[in-house]
Amino acid sequence: MGRQYYIAANWKMNMLKGESVELAQGLVKALKDGKNKYMIAPSFTSLDAVAQVIKGSNILLGAQNMCTEEKGAYTGEVSVHMLKDLGVQVVILGHSERRHIYGEDNEMINKKVKLALAEGLEVDLCIGETLEEREAGKADAVCEEQTRKGLAGVSKADMAKVTLAYEPVWAIGTGKTATPEDAQAVHAAVRKVIADMYDQATADAVIIQYGGSMKPANCQELLNQKDIDGGLIGGAGLKVETFEPICKTY
Ligand code: 13P
Repeated sequence: MGRQYYIAANWKMNMLKGESVELAQGLVKALKDGKNKYMIAPSFTSLDAVAQVIKGSNILLGAQNMCTEEKGAYTGEVSVHMLKDLGVQVVILGHSERRHIYGEDNEMINKKVKLALAEGLEVDLCIGETLEEREAGKADAVCEEQTRKGLAGVSKADMAKVTLAYEPVWAIGTGKTATPEDAQAVHAAVRKVIADMYDQATADAVIIQYGGSMKPANCQELLNQKDIDGGLIGGAGLKVETFEPICKTY
């Protein structure tokens, strides 16, 4: 068997319930013969409806965020148990929009990562540097810190349920994609960090997705890179016509 990629769509705050159901229906049909791992992450308000549509398909149900706490007086938050109750299998944590718009720090993200894993969910942990950090030559260092702190206390066994997503902040929703070589360099550096934290086998096995203006026109050269194992797609994940070709590039 060839290499299996993990292609995921983060729908962000874009789709009403009816639109979500329609897109999910289209994707179930379009991807049914696909041989990669697929995940879609609708808004909380559409999870229940989308869960019904993708049940029994080869598409995993993801959530875009989760509370650090399990229950109680946390107005406006959504717990891990609520997600599991709806059939959610994966949770995206540490997305740059959570870090930079809502002030989530590595400590908070780590708490969420550990709770999600303890409750049996898969985690898609996002990391990535800002433009300022890249220009200061700190891309690898920032990604290393986010990886180490985000995964602090996560066991080697639980790493089987962790995917990393390298999303350079300056490439998200901007149309600017990291060059395949620049992305590859960060992916390789992050894999080394995993080898150092765990061991080489864990590092070899961990999936590291690229995210940031990935689309049908540029996904192939990104996916051709040795350490790029998939994609976390925003804008191009909102239509069957643009998501399907990425999913089926390989
Ligand atoms: P875009 O593909 O729209 O740049 O978004 C990437 C992203 O943030 C996915 O989580």
